[in-house]
Amino acid sequence: MAKDIDWGSLGFGYVKTDKRFVANYTNGAWDEGALIDDDTITMSECAGVLQYAQTCFEGLKAYTTEDGRIVTFRPDLNAARMADTCKRLEMPVYPEDKWVDAIVQTVKGNIDYVPPYGSGATLYIRPYMFGINPVIGVKPANDYQFRVFTTPVGPYFKGGAKPIVIRVSDYDRAAPHGTGHIKAGLNYAMSLHAIVEAHEQGYAENMYLDPGTRTKVEETGGANFIFITKDGTLVTPKSDSILPSITRRSLMVVAEKYLGMKVEHREVLFSEVKDFAECGLCGTAAVISPVGKIFDHGNEIDFPSGMEEMGPYTKKLYDTLTGIQMGRIEAPEGWIKEIA
Ligand code: PLP
Ligand code: COI
Repeated sequence: MAKDIDWGSLGFGYVKTDKRFVANYTNGAWDEGALIDDDTITMSECAGVLQYAQTCFEGLKAYTTEDGRIVTFRPDLNAARMADTCKRLEMPVYPEDKWVDAIVQTVKGNIDYVPPYGSGATLYIRPYMFGINPVIGVKPANDYQFRVFTTPVGPYFKGGAKPIVIRVSDYDRAAPHGTGHIKAGLNYAMSLHAIVEAHEQGYAENMYLDPGTRTKVEETGGANFIFITKDGTLVTPKSDSILPSITRRSLMVVAEKYLGMKVEHREVLFSEVKDFAECGLCGTAAVISPVGKIFDHGNEIDFPSGMEEMGPYTKKLYDTLTGIQMGRIEAPEGWIKEIA
C-alpha cells in the first residue's frame, strides 16, 4: 500500500523510509550485505570518514511508469562512476553487478514510498561508502561500509520548472587535476560556503568557472550545464574537473537521436554564454532546471527564453528525457532497469 504522503508538496528533502542496504568491508573482503531497519550508524570517534572525509556517494531515482511499473534509469552507469570514484579515493570497489542488485533490493524494500505516476515526485536513491575504522595518520581506512537508502523527493529547486537565477562564483569547486570528476563528499563540503553565500544574495546556485584560468564554464554545485545556441544546437561543457553527469550524457543522445539536434561537447568560454538562446542545469536531482539569468559581478546575462518558462528546446529535451524515464517514450536499449 502506497504511504499516505502528500507527494505533490514534497521538496528535495530526507524522509526516512523503511529499509536500507548495508554491506561491510573487513579483512579485505565485502560481506553479503543485507536490508536492515536501523537508520542510525555507530562508529569509532576516530573513523576515517570523520577525520579525513573519506566518503563518496551516488544519486539516482526510481520512477513509476505510466503503465504502473517501477523502474530506475541507467544504474549501471552510477555503479561504474562509483567504482571510478572509489579508485581515486583509495576505497574498495563494491562489485558493479552487486551494486545494481543492492539498488533493486533497497527500492523493493521501500516500494510503498515510490511516488505514483504523475505526482511530480520520485524516489531518490542514495548509495554511499565511507571509511569506518579508526584512522589517525593520514592514510586510507582498512574497513568500509557501503549503504543505500531511499527518500521520496520533489523538485530540487523551489518552483520546479520555473527558470532560476544563478551567479558566477568567486570560489572554486575543484582544483585542476583534483577530484572534480568524481563524486567525493569533499567536493560538496567545499561548495557549502559558496552556496550559503549565493542563497543569502538571492541566487539559486553558483556557476563555477575553471579554476586554472577562470575563463571556461564548469558546472554548478550539483549539476552540469546545458546550453542551446540560437540555431538549436545543444552545447555541453567539457572539462576534466567536472562530474560526468549521466543525465547530460543521456541528453546528448536524446538531442541527437530523438530530436535530430546537433550536439557539441566541448570547452565553453564564459564569454560565449551571453550568445546562447537557452541555458539549463541537468542532473538526477535537478532533472533539467532552466536558468533565466546569470549574474557576473554586476553584469547580467538574460537568456531570451526569459523568467517565465523553459525555452522551447529545453522543454523538448525535458519532455523526451522524462518521457523515457516514465515509460511514455521507448527507451534506448539498456537504459531502463525494471524493478517491479
Ligand atoms: N555535477 C555534480 C557536481 C553533481 O553532484 C551531479 C549529481 O549527481 C551532477 C553533475 C549530475 O550528474 P547525474 O546526471 O549523473 O546525476
Ligand atoms: C544528484 O543529482 O543525484 C546529486 O547527487 C546532486 C546533489 C547535489 C543532490
